[in-house]
Amino acid sequence: RPRIGILTSGGDCPGLNAVIRATTKTAFWLGYDVVGFRDGFEGLVDPIRYQVLSPRNTAGILVQGGTILGSTNKGRFAARVGESGRAELDPQLIGRVAETVERLKLEGLIVVGGDGSLSTALQFHEAGIPVVGVPKTIDNDLKATAFTFGFNSAVLCCTDALDRLHTTAASHERVMVLEVMGRHTGWIALHGGIAGGADVILIPEIEWTYDNIIAKIAERRALDKYFTLIVVAEGAHLPSGGLVVEEQAGVQNKQVRLGGIGQVIAERLEGMIEQDVRFVVLGHLQRGGGPTTFDRVLASEYGAHAVRLITEGKFGQMVCSDPPDIRDVSIAEAVDQIRTVDPSGSAVQSARAMGICFGDTPG
Ligand code: F6P
Repeated sequence: RPRIGILTSGGDCPGLNAVIRATTKTAFWLGYDVVGFRDGFEGLVDPIRYQVLSPRNTAGILVQGGTILGSTNKGRFAARVGESGRAELDPQLIGRVAETVERLKLEGLIVVGGDGSLSTALQFHEAGIPVVGVPKTIDNDLKATAFTFGFNSAVLCCTDALDRLHTTAASHERVMVLEVMGRHTGWIALHGGIAGGADVILIPEIEWTYDNIIAKIAERRALDKYFTLIVVAEGAHLPSGGLVVEEQAGVQNKQVRLGGIGQVIAERLEGMIEQDVRFVVLGHLQRGGGPTTFDRVLASEYGAHAVRLITEGKFGQMVCSDPPDIRDVSIAEAVDQIRTVDPSGSAVQSARAMGICFGDTPG
């Protein structure tokens, strides 16, 4: 039987196993075998590590978080920017990947990954290796697709956290700051904040001030609401000016990775208002656990479509969501294009209409 390869690369997210299962089942019915490489791209080269996947050994993984194949965002394939300003891999390494694909007689290789991993897949494609891409990230920040799987599950986690913070904040009349992921965009904070009834949402796409947050807290107190829920995206920017600039520098130096802003905001607010302030960093809880029903469907459709691309010889393409359809675009078009929250878009506007504060106007 002809063979297809698959690997999962970069940070994990709910729905990876659903893609692996959908790929395996679709390939099986079309008469293909599937080879799953271990630990992202690393499994492709010295030593080559893979397992043959079948409907039998992928049974039950639809609902499981993480990836049965393992993943890595470090090692020999980690993105390095070359002289051209683009991510560039050692040509010898690409040559070894080509040898593996040839030796295992793969008709195509499915790369399930985020922006960095898809840039690697693009280099494979340019070197003549038959690849197709499947986009994944909880951040939902890829321009070429309306949704990435994992996002909806991360939003559910954020919503659940807010539901829990709501009751304890109300009981103790506290201000709660919840820091969520999202890298350089505010999608998780925006959607989680709306779904979880946040009073203030702070995102990288909208500049905000402490004064405006304090005005919102005061406005709520005037309405006999003595607690406030604030959601902040890890990539949100602190306001410039005075002490806060130093704080911001501190955060950026301390955190090569994003994060830490929730604590800075909570500590600063506590010094400015007569109320208890607490913070929670949701962290990798957002990436763990099983996928929501939405993500199960999206990931399954992505897996099935990726196999179809291989059988049709449409290499160098990435599957994407264009509701209500699943389509594909060239990987070259899809990478290096971040989709940020549009402050004049309907989600932000609806949130404002309900009185949610983005910190850019008082109350
Ligand atoms: O891109 C997904 C993501 O979870 C971001 O939201 C977050 O900034 C980053 O990855 C965390 O990466 P790591 O798992 O390396 O800490």
